[in-house]
Amino acid sequence: MPATPQPAASKAQRRLGLDAGAVLAALPDPVLAVDAEDRLAYVNAAAEQFFGAGAATLLGTALTELLPADSPLFALMAGVRQTGHSVSEYDVSIETPRLGLHVVTLQVAPLTEAADRLVITLQERSIAHKIDRQLTHRNAARSVTGMAAMLAHEVKNPLSGIRGAAQLLEENAGPGDRELTRLICDEADRIVALVDRMEIFSDPRTLERRAVNIHEVLDRVRLLAQSGFARHVHFVETYDPSLPPVLGNRDALIQVFLNLVKNAAEAVPAQGGEIQIATAYRHGVRLAIAGNESRRHLPLLVSVIDNGNGIPEDLRPHLFDPFVSTKRNGTGLGLALVAKVIEDHGGVIEFETQPRRTAFRVFLPLASVESEG
Ligand SMILES: Nc1ncnc2c1ncn2[C@@H]1O[C@H](COP(=O)(O)OP(=O)(O)OP(=O)(O)O)[C@@H](O)[C@H]1O
Ligand SMILES: [Mg+2]
Repeated sequence: MPATPQPAASKAQRRLGLDAGAVLAALPDPVLAVDAEDRLAYVNAAAEQFFGAGAATLLGTALTELLPADSPLFALMAGVRQTGHSVSEYDVSIETPRLGLHVVTLQVAPLTEAADRLVITLQERSIAHKIDRQLTHRNAARSVTGMAAMLAHEVKNPLSGIRGAAQLLEENAGPGDRELTRLICDEADRIVALVDRMEIFSDPRTLERRAVNIHEVLDRVRLLAQSGFARHVHFVETYDPSLPPVLGNRDALIQVFLNLVKNAAEAVPAQGGEIQIATAYRHGVRLAIAGNESRRHLPLLVSVIDNGNGIPEDLRPHLFDPFVSTKRNGTGLGLALVAKVIEDHGGVIEFETQPRRTAFRVFLPLASVESEG
């Protein structure tokens, strides 16, 4: 967001009777600006509401008088002044006796003309909410763990017995009966495959992770997709080739993106279906770790975007739960598995959906912290 509008833009704004102050005042999220001494130099209407005071009182007040000195916001602001890069941080708790507790996504950006002046936005709803939902998905993935282990044990053993018995029968069966024994074998195989897919949830081993080239993973996924289920789909790749390696498990990541691309391919129209796979480096995306003061850097973003009809509204709150499916032959395990693997990577997944554009975004950690810049 350029802080100083281009002359042409401001002329157009004037012609339309738009003034930047009115635009900011209409924003539902608090926006504030501070000077080099951290005194409030601007507050929009939502910020007045957030702090429970009018602009007349707030302007000139030091932010330290409004928020506790150990608030993570101050560390973020110092970082932005030092690097000159904007930063966003998920899941930050802001709590004062007066304000109560707010969990927000903070965004801090330097004002272009004077780097020690900063613009700060707080988002209470959308992104913070999405991350919150994502954390619930993690629990969903976890709750299926015990059941997966039980299923694997209780279902697979008798199934192999049933299959064996059907094969024995097949040896002496006539052509009509053979069709039935085949059916038994095929269905048994299908159930074993399903249980195998579930077993990944009960796997107590922690994923072995190393430096992985994410583009190599995505190339493989695209190749697999295009030679199989996504033959009818046009792929658009928007890669940032300078991305450093991610800290991950190659096979598990292939599974993750294969599932996302498969869902996308199943969602796009038969004609004109398009899937975009994009990678980008996001400065300063961090996630608070529960029960831990530290924050995890998740700067590597991979998006899978399709032009399908979008995710039905009633499905959205449970999307990552197991067995949630609208497909006739779907197991509903795809996204549960994706959520589990991303959690094992310490990453985050979120989605945004509307007709003709559904995006799944995966944030991942880098292999080496030094390369975060
Ligand atoms: N890109 C998408 N566009 C629209 N709906 C989607 C998309 N991705 C997932 N969904 C919805 O979420 C549901 C759950 O997806 P998930 O991958 O977990 O299971 P599934 O695809 O139905 O089954 P499986 O992955 O076992 O084939 C899908 O049935 C579909 O309704
Ligand atoms: Mg799926």
